[in-house]
Amino acid sequence: MQTPVSGFSKLSKEEKIDWIVSQYFNHNSEAKNTLTAYWNQDEKRQALHDDFIENTISNYYLPLGVAPNFNINGTLFTIPMAIEESSVVAAAAKAAKYWGARGGFKTEILGEEKIGQIHFIYSGNGEKLFPFIEEIKPKLLEDVSTLTANMIKRGGGITGISLRDKTAELEGYYQLHLQFHTVDSMGANFINSCLEAIAKRLQFYIGEDSRFSPEEKAVEIVMSILSNYVPNCLAKAWVRCPIDALEEEEGMSKHEFAEKFVRAVTIAQLEPYRAVTHNKGIMNGVDAVVIATGNDFRAVEAGVHAFAARDGHYASLSKATIEGDDFCFELTLPLAIGTVGGLTKLHPLVKWSMELLGNPSAKELMQIMVVAGLAQNFAAVRSLVTSGIQKGHMKMHLLNILNQLNANANQKEKAIEYFKTTAVSFSAVEQFLQNN
Ligand code: MEV
Repeated sequence: MQTPVSGFSKLSKEEKIDWIVSQYFNHNSEAKNTLTAYWNQDEKRQALHDDFIENTISNYYLPLGVAPNFNINGTLFTIPMAIEESSVVAAAAKAAKYWGARGGFKTEILGEEKIGQIHFIYSGNGEKLFPFIEEIKPKLLEDVSTLTANMIKRGGGITGISLRDKTAELEGYYQLHLQFHTVDSMGANFINSCLEAIAKRLQFYIGEDSRFSPEEKAVEIVMSILSNYVPNCLAKAWVRCPIDALEEEEGMSKHEFAEKFVRAVTIAQLEPYRAVTHNKGIMNGVDAVVIATGNDFRAVEAGVHAFAARDGHYASLSKATIEGDDFCFELTLPLAIGTVGGLTKLHPLVKWSMELLGNPSAKELMQIMVVAGLAQNFAAVRSLVTSGIQKGHMKMHLLNILNQLNANANQKEKAIEYFKTTAVSFSAVEQFLQNN
């Protein structure tokens, strides 16, 4: 059994690695070499990455790919995507080309509202609390003016405060529910700082007011925190074209394809088992852009899936319809992301990705992300209702299998040619390498 370590975070990087290697890798120097092989040779750059988190011991690489030819509202974008799944970037690029030839993607922003809540317990007369909050609202806003001044200058700030009575769900439970506009920042730090300051002032104002009894004055602030559920921070993307303008698919007419596609999306609206996978496919595209642009993919994931269940059952985030002679496909996503603050200026590849996208505003980046999700979803459902997903997926996975089997450059070249017309599987590739 390993011995517990104390003061681990105070050890140097080398000391941390040596401790891990002695405890978990039987002193095997290979384990250390694996970590050091991924250190950046540029010490300054490595130090930057070391400082992102505590106890950094190495760098964890993900490929950064790009999907070109995204026509979004008439502007062409090459979208950066950080992801390990082999077929995702290829699928995005294919969908971009497909819709580029059919009018491109259209987008709009349906809202930018962020939410934060102060959860507190008040054991008293609720009727008294509502007018009191209305009364102190201007004071609460004034009290955090040093925190909000810059945001207000940039066009944002706190846009609403309301009291919510949750005592039917939990005894004494009330919320101050706040709305924020954080312009180009995701705003987590801004929102949480405002909430914590306002919570203290709320306690103070109740505490010093003679209209409240000693019992009522004993307000307990349980917590003050932003919500990652942002159903009013929405970006929508859609594509539309005459069914006759769709591409010819093998073994079915264009109308059959359109109808089968719509049916597949309808199934994802009705059936949660399918909806989760359908939405996972959407998030393949979204997360890759969220990560490449240094945004918080956990926040986006949490918010998106809550949104998918907003009607009380988990459903598809996208919608496909046939309207007259047109095939229509759309996606609306809640996306609390930012283009300033966080890692955006710190991580060199994030900065690069932002530059590639023309240094977008948060609103513009939300639109690019929702397009990446729609494109990914189109590519996945198109494959599913035609050739099946494995054909394209295994083609892209072929290189991983070849690398795993230590194929040389010549074998790789031959294998890629051979498997253009043969189904890819681990054993088929193994067999091929034995004979080539
Ligand atoms: C795989 O990463 C994503 C898909 O399963 C999505 C889908 O089924 O729609 C292909």
